[in-house]
Amino acid sequence: MMVRKLVGSTLLVSVVFVLGVSCAPTDRPVDAGSSDASQGVSSMKWSTLSGTPPIIIAHRGASGYRPEHTLAGYELAIAQGADVIEPDLVFTKDGVLVARHDRYLSTSTDVADHPEFADKKRRNPDPNGEAREDWWAEDFTLAEIKSLRARQAFPGRSTEYDGQYEIPTFDEILTLATEQAKTLNRSVGVYPETKHPDYLESIGLDFEDPMLSALRGFDAGPVYIQSFGPSILKRISGKTDAKLIQLVHEESPGSGSNIPLAEIAAYADGVGPAKAIVLPDVPILGGVDFVTRAHELGLLVHPWTFRKDQPAGPGVATISFPVDSIAAKVVKSDAEVEFYRYFAAGVDGVFTDFPDIGADLRDALADGED
Ligand code: G3P
Ligand code: CA
Repeated sequence: MMVRKLVGSTLLVSVVFVLGVSCAPTDRPVDAGSSDASQGVSSMKWSTLSGTPPIIIAHRGASGYRPEHTLAGYELAIAQGADVIEPDLVFTKDGVLVARHDRYLSTSTDVADHPEFADKKRRNPDPNGEAREDWWAEDFTLAEIKSLRARQAFPGRSTEYDGQYEIPTFDEILTLATEQAKTLNRSVGVYPETKHPDYLESIGLDFEDPMLSALRGFDAGPVYIQSFGPSILKRISGKTDAKLIQLVHEESPGSGSNIPLAEIAAYADGVGPAKAIVLPDVPILGGVDFVTRAHELGLLVHPWTFRKDQPAGPGVATISFPVDSIAAKVVKSDAEVEFYRYFAAGVDGVFTDFPDIGADLRDALADGED
């Protein structure tokens, strides 16, 4: 829900949106940007680490519009203005990196419709993993994986494109980014995530060599390597020019997924937090004002995941800004309000399933145009 209203003689626009957990209105200064005489409004002043606008990271591709982790989805994301595309990586049996969010295949592919693979269904072989019966990527050769087709994995989203796309390899994704960068004459970066690195290493499938080898020579745009597992990041620190991003989760504090920022700063370039822990009034990870504390340590902040069909996060929040500001002019939908609030908090990038919304809003705020 979003409500706009004029507030007395100060002519403020108040944007109210419901996100899930109670939190107080932010008093962080917003939209205190430079004057744009041609537009009569102020453009956004960015409080990112570099002072430049935040990057838009296409989370699993343009996964709000196409089945996740498909070349079609990544290509659409680039067309929509994403700066960087995000493949989650797992391994095939023959050691090839392919893009899947999960090691199991039943939710994002048509594997259940392939009788030739029926006998591959088994309990999760990872003793520390989720207990489920499924088909596991590391049990399939690349040729077998390539015989599958991607399906919509997110409840409620269109299934129109189911059955059309292969599972891409990491190499194919890098090639796509390179070709798109040339075609569009702009930078297209990649943001691979190592999924289950410790388990996969334990069965002889280590990310380090194949991932770093694949990235060697990639120059279409910036490269970020992310993981929830600190050990793979520590191991490759100093062996790659890629920026390393430690993912942290709002759940299970103390379990190993929430690592103190000062510790992260010793081996990584940034932190990828669940978005709920970014807002300055949510005291998780040992304090408040997550972005400020991360920036003081020189860490980039790239929260996840922004979804127009899954408004989530902390609280009922109110943002006020001058009625003649660029924010008042361009921030309209609930999804835009959410992006805006994080942009105003100074995040350096956002993971989103809807890169068009993030990129359009970011650009409009930067340009003073709608
Ligand atoms: O990688 C950032 C974010 O994508 C982590 O969540 O589960 O979507 O990979 P997930
Ligand atoms: Ca991811």
